[in-house]
Amino acid sequence: TGTKEGCAEGDCGACTVAVADGPGAPPRAVNACILFLPMLDGATLFTVESLKRADGGLHPIQQALVDHHGSQCGFCTPGFVMSLYAHFANAGGIGKRELDDALAGNLCRCTGYGPILEAARRVNSAKPEPFVTLAPDPEPLAIEHVSTGTGLTKRFFAPRSLADLAALALRFPDAVLLAGATDVGLWVTKQQRELETIISVMQVRELRAIMQTEEGLEIGAAVRYSEAHAALGAYHGDLGELVRRLGAVQVRNCGTIGGNIANGSPIGDMAPALIAAGAILVLRKGEAERRLALEDYFLAYGKQDRTPGEFVARVIVPRLPSNALYSAYKITKRFDQDVSAVCGAFRVRRDGARVIEARLAFGGMAATPKRARNGEQILESGAWSEANVRKAMAALERDFSPLSDVRGSAAYRLETARNLLYRFYLESAGQAGETRVLDIMAVDHA
Ligand code: FAD
Ligand code: FES
Ligand code: FES
Repeated sequence: TGTKEGCAEGDCGACTVAVADGPGAPPRAVNACILFLPMLDGATLFTVESLKRADGGLHPIQQALVDHHGSQCGFCTPGFVMSLYAHFANAGGIGKRELDDALAGNLCRCTGYGPILEAARRVNSAKPEPFVTLAPDPEPLAIEHVSTGTGLTKRFFAPRSLADLAALALRFPDAVLLAGATDVGLWVTKQQRELETIISVMQVRELRAIMQTEEGLEIGAAVRYSEAHAALGAYHGDLGELVRRLGAVQVRNCGTIGGNIANGSPIGDMAPALIAAGAILVLRKGEAERRLALEDYFLAYGKQDRTPGEFVARVIVPRLPSNALYSAYKITKRFDQDVSAVCGAFRVRRDGARVIEARLAFGGMAATPKRARNGEQILESGAWSEANVRKAMAALERDFSPLSDVRGSAAYRLETARNLLYRFYLESAGQAGETRVLDIMAVDHA
C-alpha cells in the first residue's frame, strides 16, 4: 500500500519499486503502474515496505528525506525512496549528474528538488543497508496462466527458448508480443484494452544477449536500454547520450531496443539512430530467419513489414567504417524524459573530400522513421562542403512534409531538421564546442 499511482503511464515515478531478476542480481528501479504481474515471475520485488527495519526505525534514505525536508504531501516520496534505494544498491554515486539521472523519472509537485537532492547527497554517507534477494522458485510459473474473471480467457506465456517462442508465436499469431511493457502497459492503463493472449519475449535466453561479432554489435530483441547503454555508448558517444535521454531510469530499466523498433513509432529514438548506422533487422518466423535493412521495416504509419507469427529477433549494428562521420541528435522541449520533436542521425563516408555514402535518417518528420533520399543524393553527388550541405538542407522539403502537433509545428520541424544537418557539418569541421551543451565525447557512458 506504500506504492502510489500518479500518472499510470510511466512518467511520474510515484509507483517506483525495485526488482531483482535473480539471486545476487542488483535491483532495477521500475514503474509498477505499467508492469504486468507475471513479469515478476522468478524475481524479487522490493516495495517501500521492504525497507522496514526490525527496530521500527526509518531506513537511512527515509531518514535523510525527513532530516532535509525532502517531503511535504508525501505522495511522491515512496517513489523517490525506491529510486534512491536502487541507485545506491547499484553503487550509484552522489555527483550532481548521477543524482539528476537517478531521479529524472520522479516528479514532485510540492517539495522542490533542492531538498530532495540534498537528502540524496547525505544518504550515501549513511551507507544504506545491503539488500537481500530471495532465491527464485525453482519451478517457473506455469507458462500458461488462465483467468476467466472478465469472461475472457487470458493467457500469459513466458517461453524460455527461441524455439518455444517461435512455436508459440505461430500457434497464437494474434497474441500481443510483450517485451518491457513501456508501450503495451499503457494500452491497458490508458486505453483500457483487454489483452487476451500475451507472449513475453523477456525470458528467452537467446534474445537477452548482446554480442560483438565480425559483423558488428548484435542486440537481442529482449535487451533493455540500460543493458545496451554501455555498448551503444562505446559504439559512439551520441548513441550513449541518446539512450541516457530516452525516458528515465525506470523506463530504460524495462524498455528494450527491440520493442522500440518493433512498435514502429514515428518518434521512437532508436530507429533513426540505428538506420543512420546502417543497421540490419533480423526477423524470425518458425524456423526461418530473414534480414532486412532497418529502414525497410517501416512501411507506413502503424504498419511494419512483419507477418503474423513473426517476431523481431535481433538488430545488428555494423561497425562504424573508419572513414565515416556519425552523429545523432534528439530535440525535445524538456531535456530529460521527453519524447523527440525531431530526432536526426547521420552517417557520411568520405573518400578525400568526396562523399561516397550519405545516410540521413529522421524521426518526427514523417509517418515513419525515414531516410532523406533527396538530401542524400545531393550529398553523394559532390564534396563534403558547406555549399553542398546547404543544397541538401534545402532538399529536405522534398523528403518530408511533417505534421504540426504539440511537440512542434511543421515549419519548426523542417527548420530543425535542416539545422541539425548543418550542425553535423559544423561539428565535422571541428566546431563542436560551439554546438554542444555537453562535451558528449568526454562523458563515460560505460
Ligand atoms: P513493449 O511495450 O513490450 O512493446 C512495444 C511494441 O513492440 C508492442 O507493439 C509489442 O507487441 C511489440 N514487440 C515487442 N517486442 C517484440 C518483438 N520481439 N517482436 C515483435 N514485436 C515486438 N521512446 C523513445 O523512443 N524515446 C523516449 O524518450 C521515450 N520516452 C518514454 C517515456 C515514458 C515515460 C514511457 C512510458 C515510454 C517512453 N518511450 C520513449 C517509449 C518506449 O520506451 C519505447 O517505445 C520502448 O522501447 C518499447 O519497448 P518495450 O520493450 O517496452 O516494448
Ligand atoms: Fe506515474 Fe507509475 S504512476 S509512473
Ligand atoms: Fe508532494 Fe512530492 S511531496 S508530490
